[in-house]
Amino acid sequence: LVEKDLSGRKIVVTAGPTIEPLDPVRYMTNHSSGKMGYSIAKEAVSRGAEVVLISGHTSITPPKEVELVKVKTTEDMLKAVAKHFDFCDVLIKSAAPVDYKPETVSPIKIKKKENEEDELIIKYVKNPDIAAYFGKQKKHQVMVGFAAETDDLDKYALEKLKKKNFDFIVANDVTKEGAGFDVDTNIVTIIDNKGIKTNYPMMNKREVARVIVDKVKYILDNKS
Ligand code: PMT
Repeated sequence: LVEKDLSGRKIVVTAGPTIEPLDPVRYMTNHSSGKMGYSIAKEAVSRGAEVVLISGHTSITPPKEVELVKVKTTEDMLKAVAKHFDFCDVLIKSAAPVDYKPETVSPIKIKKKENEEDELIIKYVKNPDIAAYFGKQKKHQVMVGFAAETDDLDKYALEKLKKKNFDFIVANDVTKEGAGFDVDTNIVTIIDNKGIKTNYPMMNKREVARVIVDKVKYILDNKS
C-alpha cells in the first residue's frame, strides 16, 4: 500500500512539448513525449497530492485523479501555470517549452516557391521563460526544474538552477542512450541549491519520479 504522505499538498507539474505555429499547417516543436512529466504526476497523485498536470501534446493517457490542463504554445503554458502558482506548494517544470516562436503566424498556408534557389527565411523571437518568471515570484513554493543538455551538463544545469531560482534541478544529457526524450528510462544528476550533486544510474522514469517526489517531500517537511 502506498503511503499518502503528500495529502493536503498541491503540486503543479508541466509535461510534454509546446508547439509554435508558423501557419495553419506547420509548427515548431521538440521531441518531448511527456513520459517524464506524466510519471511525476502519477507518483505525486498516488501519494495523495492534489495534482494539476499542465501538458503539451502527448499520446499518454493521464491518470484520472489529476486535473489535466492541455496547452499548445509556451505562452499558453505560462498562463496555465499562472492560474495555479499562488495556491500550489510545488511546481515541477518537466515540460520542454519551445524557446523561440515565429515572429508572425501566417493566417494562410505559406506556399512553396517555384524557383529552386528561393529560400524561406523565418524570423524567430524569444518566448517567455516560464520557470524564470515564476522563480522571481516564488514565496513558499518548492520549485523543481530540469535541464536538457547535449554538452557541459553540470555547468549549464548549475546556471539554470541559479537563474531560475529552483530548489533543485534534474539534469539529463539528452544525447545518452536510455536518457532524455521519448524513452522509458532516464539517467539524471540532481543538483540542489547548495550545489550538492548526486548522480543516479539509469532508471525507468517512474523510479526517477519517485526520487524527485521524495526529495520534494523532504524539502516540504523541513521548511520552517
Ligand atoms: O517528455 P519526455 O520524452 O519524457 O522527455 C523528458 C525531458 C527530456 C523533456 C525532460 O526530462 C526534461 O529535461 N525537461 C526539460 C526540457 C527543457 O526544456 O529543458 P531546458 O534546459 O530547455 O529548460 C530548463 C528548464 O526551464 C526546464 O525546467 C524547462 O521546463 C524550463 N523552461 C524552459 C524554456 C521555457 N521557455 N520556459 C521554461 O520554463
